[in-house]
Amino acid sequence: MRVDIVTIFPDFFDVLDVSLIGKANQAGILNLRIHDLRDYTDDRHRTVDDTPYGGGAGMVMKPEPWGRALDRIIGLSPTGDPLVIFTSPAGEVFTQTAARQLSREDHIVICCGRYEGIDQRVIDDTTNRARTVTMSIGDYVLNGGEVAALAIVEAVGRLVPGVVGNPESLVEESHEDGLLEYPSYTKPATWRGLDVPDVLLSGNHKLIASWRQQQRIERTRAIRPDLLPGPEVEDDPGSSSGQ
Ligand code: ADE
Repeated sequence: MRVDIVTIFPDFFDVLDVSLIGKANQAGILNLRIHDLRDYTDDRHRTVDDTPYGGGAGMVMKPEPWGRALDRIIGLSPTGDPLVIFTSPAGEVFTQTAARQLSREDHIVICCGRYEGIDQRVIDDTTNRARTVTMSIGDYVLNGGEVAALAIVEAVGRLVPGVVGNPESLVEESHEDGLLEYPSYTKPATWRGLDVPDVLLSGNHKLIASWRQQQRIERTRAIRPDLLPGPEVEDDPGSSSGQ
């Protein structure tokens, strides 16, 4: 999978050289390329931002450097059909389901916004010539999209075949089927007076599987009830139809 990342902080992505993602990059399973947006500016100060039309606090990323960078990266796409992702707290929420879908792409381009965001015309212009999506990694505001891009690359990259050595370890994870993962234990069987649940020492695989499933449901109900299917909402016959 080819991944291009456009940022004003290329050094941020040095961490991708370590860990499984770094190894996959060296092995050629992933092909990560980091682009400095300032290389696409045309003034002495390598300016990437300006004040917002209409007033207000903060700065907006100028369209010209983004346009040039994306012209080049989309134009040179080895697949000719890249998916372009703009990171923004105003995007659709990035979930495990989205990570799985993205892991099937051959070429993604991640554009890291900063300041008050990127001039909207960059997103509109990109939408006219490539598949485009705006993504948030959660309902909180970061200083920029770099941390979001790192999270996306790691969550997506590990799902690309060959990146994680044992693909079975990807199956029973939190969020893989809408539930949180069960609790895990390793040796010793007793630690600081706390015992590993008997069932895990029983050797009875059927019993262990059903205990784990039960734990997943209980955990999800306690910590993330929003993930569980809610009760059917019945139509209220007394409510107005909005006319
Ligand atoms: N940029 C700033 N906050 C962000 C978020 N929550 N997700 C993605 N990009 C962002």
